[in-house]
Amino acid sequence: MALPSTLNRYLLLLAQEHLEFRLPEIKSLLSLFGGRFSNHQEIHGKSPFWILSIPSEDIARNLMKRTVCAKSIFELWGHGKSPEELYKSLKSYPMEKMAPFLHSDTTYKIKIHTFNKTLTQEEKIKRIDALEFLPFEGKVNLKTPQHIFSILEDYGLDPNHIPEKPLNIYFGRWIADGQRELIESYSVKKRHFIGNTSMDAGLSFIMANHGKVKENDIVFDPFVGTGGLLIPSAHFGAYVCGTDIDYNTVHGLGKASRKNQKWRGPDENIKANLRQYGLEKYYLDVLVSDASKPSWRKGLFFDAIITDPPYGIRESTRKTGSQKEVPKGIEKCPESHIPVSINYHLSDMFVDLLNFAAETLVLGGRLVYWLPVYLPEYTEEIVPRHPCLKLISNCEQRLSSHTARRLVTMEKVKDFEDQDHYSHLLDNQFLPYKGLNSFREKYFSGVTKRIAKEEKSIQE
Ligand SMILES: C[S@@+](CC[C@H](N)C(=O)[O-])C[C@H]1O[C@@H](n2cnc3c(N)ncnc32)[C@H](O)[C@@H]1O
Repeated sequence: MALPSTLNRYLLLLAQEHLEFRLPEIKSLLSLFGGRFSNHQEIHGKSPFWILSIPSEDIARNLMKRTVCAKSIFELWGHGKSPEELYKSLKSYPMEKMAPFLHSDTTYKIKIHTFNKTLTQEEKIKRIDALEFLPFEGKVNLKTPQHIFSILEDYGLDPNHIPEKPLNIYFGRWIADGQRELIESYSVKKRHFIGNTSMDAGLSFIMANHGKVKENDIVFDPFVGTGGLLIPSAHFGAYVCGTDIDYNTVHGLGKASRKNQKWRGPDENIKANLRQYGLEKYYLDVLVSDASKPSWRKGLFFDAIITDPPYGIRESTRKTGSQKEVPKGIEKCPESHIPVSINYHLSDMFVDLLNFAAETLVLGGRLVYWLPVYLPEYTEEIVPRHPCLKLISNCEQRLSSHTARRLVTMEKVKDFEDQDHYSHLLDNQFLPYKGLNSFREKYFSGVTKRIAKEEKSIQE
């Protein structure tokens, strides 16, 4: 298909981690920055090389200011399945597009990047020398060049069968790197306040990107825990708030989660975490509150809801309430009632979460959350639906051989009306999936372990 003249081709070099999460991240970010994800993209599933066709270098730069899934982006000057094909394609790249980066008062450097193979220094120099036909008029500067060009060679995905010759070769002008270093700088290992279920930094940034969080947004986490999911949103300039049913977590009290420490110290709380990263000004507040009984007045408050609800594995799924009959008169004076907690079924939790998101998100706002699933029973139909929320993406992260969690992203596409509250009772397609309720038993059941053992012995 011919490329429309309004689009340019860029080569995206992706990290080989969290593969399923990459496409929704790139799509979300492109739509955030006004680069529609047209059908001209050349996305090669698990490959680290994708060719994106987007309208401008500005969009490419904005994308790289946010992505944690991609390492670098290049303006693509040529591509082939052999050196000859690459040179032919380079010769047909418009000279007027190359010239500004090649003229005599510029400095430059050429780098080689290989995937699934290491080249010797000699082989690298050969590759560079073979590009002599390109009209480089500037001076080589290895330390601080104005322009960096890269030859990228792709030797496929199988480390046990590395082909002699590359499967694909690309040449491009480097434009920008992504935000991979955030994974290290925001690592949970170096964070003041953490809990047993604090989310890994890379995945939390991916969640904020799937949520299309942007500057001055208001982002909410109803199951906030230690606030790990608020941090990436604040890093991207959004104001953040949350609730949790656990008083100790919200107040930074109680037992510490680190090995060598018994009790949480004075600076172990969500606000101090944000302070640690210079993001305190984005902290709105966190409250002790039960997500099953939201205490918000009616209104559209949030640009995104990004959350990791409890699945009952490392934290209990509880809500306020009593198993006993409601004592007489309690409805009349609820303030005298001291709530105890009862089990919060996962199926109810997700109905509540979707209803809450549908009610409080702005139109176009996104809900991003994790859904635990038992793999033998999983089909896409069990992912909860809501008439106001459109399913955008649904990516798997394996937890064990038979369990996984899925990162679900939904976008609010319709104003909430009173009857939408009961959609899960009125319409089959919005029925909650009751199988979720036994996730904990299945996770811990001997069945899971036994099947894993059997699978292992079959493989041996
Ligand atoms: C998976 S953890 C969230 C971890 C969090 N993302 C972090 O970075 O620490 C789930 C949290 O939900 C809280 N929770 C459980 N039931 C709740 C309820 N009914 N309402 C609000 N929070 C609840 C738990 O106390 C726990 O802190």
